[in-house]
Amino acid sequence: MKIPEHKIEEVRSATDILTVVQGYVALKKRGQNWFGLCPWHAETQGSFSVHTGKQIFHCFSCGRGGNVFSFLMEMERVSFTEAVKMLAERAGIELPAMRGGSDEEESESEQLVKANGLARDFFYKQLTDGRSAGAEEARRYLESRGYGSAVIERYLLGYAPDSWDEFTKFARSTGIPTTVFLQAGLLKEKDGRYYDAYRHRIIFPIRNLAGRVIAFGGRRLRDEAETAKYINSPESAVYRKGRELFGLWEARNDIRTREEAMLVEGYTDCLSLVMAGVSTAVASLGTALTENQARLVKRFAQNVYILYDGDNAGLGAARRAIDVLLAAGTSPRVIVLPPEEDPDSYVRKHGGEAVWKLKNESALSPAEFQLLLAKHSGRNASEAARRLVESAALIESPVEQDVFLREAAEQTGVSLDAMRRELDRSRAPIRQDSQQVTPPRTNWPPPGILTDLARTLIRRPELRPVAFANWASLRIEDPTMRELFKVMYEEWRHGDGREPVALLDVFVEPPLRDFVSDSLFESGESEDADRALDADRQFVLDSLRNLEADRVREELADLKRRLTKSPDDMDLLTQMQNLMKKEKELRRKPT
Ligand code: CTP
Ligand code: MN
Repeated sequence: MKIPEHKIEEVRSATDILTVVQGYVALKKRGQNWFGLCPWHAETQGSFSVHTGKQIFHCFSCGRGGNVFSFLMEMERVSFTEAVKMLAERAGIELPAMRGGSDEEESESEQLVKANGLARDFFYKQLTDGRSAGAEEARRYLESRGYGSAVIERYLLGYAPDSWDEFTKFARSTGIPTTVFLQAGLLKEKDGRYYDAYRHRIIFPIRNLAGRVIAFGGRRLRDEAETAKYINSPESAVYRKGRELFGLWEARNDIRTREEAMLVEGYTDCLSLVMAGVSTAVASLGTALTENQARLVKRFAQNVYILYDGDNAGLGAARRAIDVLLAAGTSPRVIVLPPEEDPDSYVRKHGGEAVWKLKNESALSPAEFQLLLAKHSGRNASEAARRLVESAALIESPVEQDVFLREAAEQTGVSLDAMRRELDRSRAPIRQDSQQVTPPRTNWPPPGILTDLARTLIRRPELRPVAFANWASLRIEDPTMRELFKVMYEEWRHGDGREPVALLDVFVEPPLRDFVSDSLFESGESEDADRALDADRQFVLDSLRNLEADRVREELADLKRRLTKSPDDMDLLTQMQNLMKKEKELRRKPT
C-alpha cells in the first residue's frame, strides 16, 4: 500500500502549495509570503501564511503548519497516502495500481468518499444515458426548469431510478462493503434486506472543497407525491451538516476573484442563478445558516449577499443570517425580493442582469434592513436600534463594530452615544462555538535549551555533523523530542544531504509537524548568511555544553544522595570529585 518515494517526489514537484491552499483560503501577498485567515479557527487578523519558496504553510496563531501533503491531510481529514493520491490526480500523474476496493487499510472516510464517487457516476449515467421511462421523465423535468447540459455537467446532477434495487445491485458490484453505502445513506435496510434510498429522484451531489462528493440531496420528481420533497444524506465520517455549502466548490474561484458571494437557501435557487450568469451563488441547504458555513464563505470573500425568499419566512431567515455572518467577521448585505418571489422564480422572470443590478443598487446594509423590518411590522426606529446593538455585539473587530454602530445610529436617528451605552450595558456574552474552534496549541515542546537546539538543527542540516560529533553522553527524556533527534541523527549518519523541509515528510502529525514547520518558517533569508551560520554553530556548541553541564549536575546530585547514605564509600567519593572537576570545566570552557 505504500506509494514509492520517487512518485511522491514527482507529485510534490508537480504541485504548487500556493494553488492548492488557495482552493481553500483566500491569500494576499505581503512581503515574501502570502497571508490569509486560518481555515481551522475563527480569526480576523490573518495569521495563516504560505511560504512559496519553502513550499510550507504555518499559522502563527494556532501553530498548525506543514507541507502541501499535511495541508490536505488536515483539511480533508485524509491519510498521507490519500493526500498524495488527491494531488497526483490533480497533476495528472498516474500512481502504480494499489489494491483498491475493500482494502481494510483504507480509512472509513476514504471508503465513504469512494462509494459516493461511484454513486455519483451511477446517477449521472442514469440521467444522461438512462433508457427507462423514469429517466426520460427526469430529463424532461430538468429541461422544463431550464437546466441544460451545462448545469448538469457543472454540478454532475443525476437521476436515481424508479426502482427498489437497481442502485443496490450496482452497489454490490463495486466491491465496496454494503455497510459503507448504508453509512452514506445511499442504501436502506429493513429486516436484513437492502433497498435503494433514493428512488425516482433528481440527484444533487454535494462536494467538499477538494471537489469530492461527500453527500447527496435528492428531489422528488412529482410534486403530488406524498413523500418528502427532498431527501438528504445523513451525517457520516465525511459529512457533517451545517459545515458545507452547496455549490461552493463550483463557485469558489468566481467568489474569490469578485470578493463576494451570493448566499441562497435552495439547490434550485443556486442552479438557476448560476445558469443565468450569477456565478457566485452558493446554498446553505434548508437548515438555517450556521456559523461554520459563514466561516466557510469568509475564507473566500468578505462580502456576502443574502438572497432569500421574499416572504416573511425569508425575511426572518435573512435577519438571523445577518447575525451569523457578522459574528463570522464578514460584511453581510441583504437583497430583498418581492414577497411572492424566490431567487429561482425571480431570476427566471428577470434574468441574471437584473439580479446583479439589484445587488449593486439596492442591497441593504444590516441597518437599512432592520429599519425595513421595523417599518413592515409597524414598529419604531428605536426597536430597530436595539436589534442593531445586539448585532453589533457580535462583531469581533472593534473597528468594524464602531463603523457598524455609526451607520446604525445614522440610519435610526438614535444618538451614537446612546447606542454605545446600550452596547456596554448588554455586552452579549461572546458566543463560543465550542465544536469548531480548536486551536490545538499543545503544551509541547517544553521550553529549554534542547528545544532551541532542535529548532536550530531543523533549519541547519549542515550543523548536524557538529552537533552529533559532540553529542557526548546526552540522553533525551522527552519521547517526542527523542524521536525528532533520532530522525535527524539517522539522516546525518546515512549522509542524507536532505533539504530541511524533507523533515515534514517524516513528521506528518502534530506536534512534530507543527514544530518543524514553525522552526522552518521563522528562519528568514539572512543577508549575512555566513555570519549567521557561524553564530548558529556557536549556539549549537554552547547548547551542547550547557546540556552536558546540566546532566553532570544531576548526576552529582544523585551521587550526593547516595553518599549521605554510605559516607565511607571511597569509590563514590572519587567519582564525585571527578564529576565536580568536569562540571567546573564545562562551565568555564569557551568552545
Ligand atoms: N429542503 C430539504 N428538505 C425538504 C425541503 C427543503 O432539505 N423537505 C432544503 C433543500 O436543500 C432545498 C431548500 O431546503 O433546496 C429550500 O427548500 P425549497 O425552497 O422548498 O426547495 P427548492 O430548492 O426551492 O426546490 P424547488 O425549487 O424545486 O421547489
Ligand atoms: Mn424553490
